Amino acid sequence: MLKNHWTILRKQYALSVLKVVFDMCGIVGYIGNKEAMPVLVSGLKNLEYRGYDSAGFAIINKRIIIEKDIGKIDDVQKKINASLLKGFSGLAHCRWATHGNVTKENAHPHADCSNKIAIVHNGIIENYSELKEKLIQKKHVFRSETDTEVIAHLIEEFHKKLGFEDAVKNALKEVKGSYALGVACAEEPGKLIAARNESPLIVGKGKNGMFLASDIPALLEYTNKFIYMHDKEIAVITKDTINIFDLEGKKKSFKISTLNWSKEAAEKGGFKHFMLKEIYEQPRAITETIDERLKNGDVVFEKELNLTDDEILKIDSIKLIGCGTSWHAALVGKFMFEELAKIPTEVEYASEFRYRNPILKPNTIVMAISQSGETADTIAALKEAKKNGAKTISICNVKGSSITRVSDGVVYTRAGPEIGVASTKAFTTQLTVLYLLTILFSKKRKTLNDKQIKDMIYGIRKIPLQIASVLNEDFEVVNCAELYHKRTNSLYLGRGVNFPIALEGALKLKEVSYIHAEGYPAAEMKHGPIALIDEHMPVVFIAPHDIYTYSKILGNIEEVKARGGIVIAIATEGDKEIPKKADHTIFIPKTLYTLSSILAVVPLQLLAYHIADKLGRTIDQPKNLAKVVTVE
Ligand code: AGP
Repeated sequence: MLKNHWTILRKQYALSVLKVVFDMCGIVGYIGNKEAMPVLVSGLKNLEYRGYDSAGFAIINKRIIIEKDIGKIDDVQKKINASLLKGFSGLAHCRWATHGNVTKENAHPHADCSNKIAIVHNGIIENYSELKEKLIQKKHVFRSETDTEVIAHLIEEFHKKLGFEDAVKNALKEVKGSYALGVACAEEPGKLIAARNESPLIVGKGKNGMFLASDIPALLEYTNKFIYMHDKEIAVITKDTINIFDLEGKKKSFKISTLNWSKEAAEKGGFKHFMLKEIYEQPRAITETIDERLKNGDVVFEKELNLTDDEILKIDSIKLIGCGTSWHAALVGKFMFEELAKIPTEVEYASEFRYRNPILKPNTIVMAISQSGETADTIAALKEAKKNGAKTISICNVKGSSITRVSDGVVYTRAGPEIGVASTKAFTTQLTVLYLLTILFSKKRKTLNDKQIKDMIYGIRKIPLQIASVLNEDFEVVNCAELYHKRTNSLYLGRGVNFPIALEGALKLKEVSYIHAEGYPAAEMKHGPIALIDEHMPVVFIAPHDIYTYSKILGNIEEVKARGGIVIAIATEGDKEIPKKADHTIFIPKTLYTLSSILAVVPLQLLAYHIADKLGRTIDQPKNLAKVVTVE
């Protein structure tokens, strides 16, 4: 019994290490009438946010040529022999690992013993060591330490007796774990195979060929027609055809979705970084998120929410789940749902929720918030909630993503593609959706009167222009970045609806500048963090004027000043008190208290950005981070 317990623990540990080291990658595949390499390179560059430790290419042209190396895609291109990579069909991969094992051998694509099968993979093969042992007994020779390579050899093994497609299907039946795969076979160069289980994968239909990729931005230059693959599906693509099967070989029907994201939307459009572009896109993103949902002085969610009036009246609690920035949005949502719609609301990290036994009453709504819709923990938590009979709703930015497929209702944030690893416009559009839902719930449940609802609608309509004015007046933000970019620590303090904004401001700074930052409810400062304050410590106060805690925050500012700390305050235009006390005041326009969080986060995003820029950081691809966390 004890031995068994330890075996399980060891296995879990091994898997957790494996998950950290071998995943979070981008894959691209092309087959068509054009040279494959330019398509693969440009597609992969648009996926570099998913992984940038190493990259590689396979071209299928009678035989398979693989060239790969460590480094970012530009560096890899300089190291490999590109003249060998000529052909009309190919696969490409960019890899992400937090530490160790960044070697040329471990870079993808991987091949079988005879170099007839090439494979690119995002995900984790959980039973890879058992499979590897069996394959070694059958005399297969492995060249890398990756879990991925076992799939190439497993397909090779089945291919001894079966055709390419059947070999892939049979191999995948033996594989446990998550995968988004691109597979090629030298003996059938007119075909690529894509396969998915619990890792994002799309197939693109273009005029000059077909594509596969981990994410939409990879393909926007070539097509806006996509098929979102489902778990345990295999797509067989040729230059003119797409066929989808289950692992038993049964043909499946599929839907081609046309997306109206422009190629330009996924490019930098003159900005130095995607993060900056996306910060500046917020007025437009919020306009698009509220557009069509505000009609004749009312909030309308048509069918997307999938809740009847009766169900809204009966909601007895809401559980909001998410990770990282999306979790911060959930905290703002809790404040609004409880304060205005009077619905008891709890916020949980998706990663915790999935491993607990949360109490879900019959009228509990579980709402998942996710930019990508592919965060593994959030998907798993949502599935868990569904299994326990809860009604599920997702707030998501990516159409057709996994989270949206397991939810009963989906409300899309219309932020457009978010490429910068640090989430910005996705966050403010998430807050916008939560605010609109608050209006809807408050109206239906009659917790606010008509005048209050009217004021809330008026307030959100003004937000895009107000954000534009914050963006225009960034002088003091840039000044603070100049003065304090060499500090090594900072505190972010806020209260009420702006406590999550303190957390978000600190997270942004950590992510892109690598400066240590902590967010706290301002009143908690005296219970510990105050010990850290001295003349080296910048303290950012989110202190818009409100009837609740404004005077208390003024007191907290005094406490920091009395200990020599540097105060940067976000205050409401016209505030005369704060500028007297703070070293720097950054003003945001007057708005309703619940909306102040949407405005207050913008200067904090800019502050993090400008500090990181002054430090010369790789802002769109911060070290150790990945845009889409598809592993636990
Ligand atoms: C945000 O800046 C982060 N990169 C990260 O915390 C992110 O919000 C988190 O991984 C959740 O992602 P999701 O919204 O796509 O689910």
